[in-house]
Amino acid sequence: MAIVRKAIIPAAGMGTRFLPVTKSVPKEMLPIVNKPVLQYVIEEAVAAGIEDVLIVTGRGKQAIENHFDYNPELETFLERAGKRDLIQQVREIGRGAEIHYVRQKEQLGLGDAIHLGRRHCGKEPFAVLLGDTIIDSPSHKSGLRQLLDAYEAKQASVVAVQRVPKEWVSRYGIVDGTAEADHANLIRLSKLVEKPTPDKAPSDLAIAGRYVFTADIFECIDQTSKGVGGEIQLTDAMNLLASRSPMFALTWNALRYDIGNRVEYAKCFIDFALRLPDTADAVRKHLAGVKW
Ligand code: G1P
Repeated sequence: MAIVRKAIIPAAGMGTRFLPVTKSVPKEMLPIVNKPVLQYVIEEAVAAGIEDVLIVTGRGKQAIENHFDYNPELETFLERAGKRDLIQQVREIGRGAEIHYVRQKEQLGLGDAIHLGRRHCGKEPFAVLLGDTIIDSPSHKSGLRQLLDAYEAKQASVVAVQRVPKEWVSRYGIVDGTAEADHANLIRLSKLVEKPTPDKAPSDLAIAGRYVFTADIFECIDQTSKGVGGEIQLTDAMNLLASRSPMFALTWNALRYDIGNRVEYAKCFIDFALRLPDTADAVRKHLAGVKW
């Protein structure tokens, strides 16, 4: 059985919904208290057993590479200031995975961004974690680990999905299929549609930002023409893949924060601040006193 060792993290989007901050700060580097979104994403991948990460970046995203590199000047400063515990923290960022980068020169869509990983992944299966999505898993298994377990059980591509209110379907890739008899949370996919209008949506199951693919997806992306928004859509390539070989959706046990959405970003920040030991009590007191 081919073990999934590699992951692609697309992080090339412009982040227009967060302007003006995203003029100079990549959306994936927005902080959730003291860590950027992308660090949570890479930690989820490493916790799931991923050893090699390819980040798809673009112009103006240098802060990403700097964050996952060493910073000797900062370390010398911290050493002089006697803050050795912080040296450890900044050194450990991204530990556990070898991180590679490729730049998407043009905004041609998520399908195109994933296709840039073709040489890197070769014939190996790989995971995809959207760089602007934090998955918070209540169980001991990270979001991606749940997906990898499903991949290992079925030896086929699998995507995480979550139910969304009907009026939200046009924000997501929506899937349809039939429940798999031997696995309570798996659906064998028959159809996937990117950002359908509510009347055209085949269900209320939305693609949740985590995927595991066999290398066959690359050929499907090759054969996918521009879709919604004039972009090469990964969902359209997945629809083709599902018509050729078995492909599954996993309705998983996890909470998802879509950081591309301002309200979800705010909720994510507050939820994490409410659980970190040095912020929890003060933030809880503050929220209790807010006049709504
Ligand atoms: C992308 C995918 C979509 C998926 C969504 C999850 O859309 O194209 O299928 O449901 O991520 O966040 P985007 O958010 O880039 O518009």
